[in-house]
Amino acid sequence: MKKSLGALSLIYPAPVWVIGTYDKDGRADAATVAWGGICSSKPPAVAISLRKSRYTYNNIMERQAFTVNVPKSVNAS
Ligand SMILES: Cc1cc2nc3c(=O)[nH]c(=O)nc-3n(C[C@H](O)[C@H](O)[C@H](O)COP(=O)(O)O)c2cc1C
Repeated sequence: MKKSLGALSLIYPAPVWVIGTYDKDGRADAATVAWGGICSSKPPAVAISLRKSRYTYNNIMERQAFTVNVPKSVNAS
């Protein structure tokens, strides 16, 4: 049966990416991100949405670089 959830910031299924960064001292960090996706093909680009409180946010602003890692789904064979 269809059920309304109201106005929520939810999309299902959501991607789960692990975003890798380095801080200013070269220390590696990883963060799980669901608010992300491809945002352009020319040029190829992805977008992620991060709270400013995330260590990852500050690392990206500092170093202008991050990696996108797609973990294997638990349902994948
Ligand atoms: C499934 C899942 C998805 C998440 N997606 C986001 C996201 O899109 N943006 C965000 O700012 N935090 C997201 N978070 C929270 C961060 O992963 C979490 O706060 C993490 O500890 C941040 O790490 P950092 O402070 O080292 O960057 C998500 C957490 C989980 C478990």
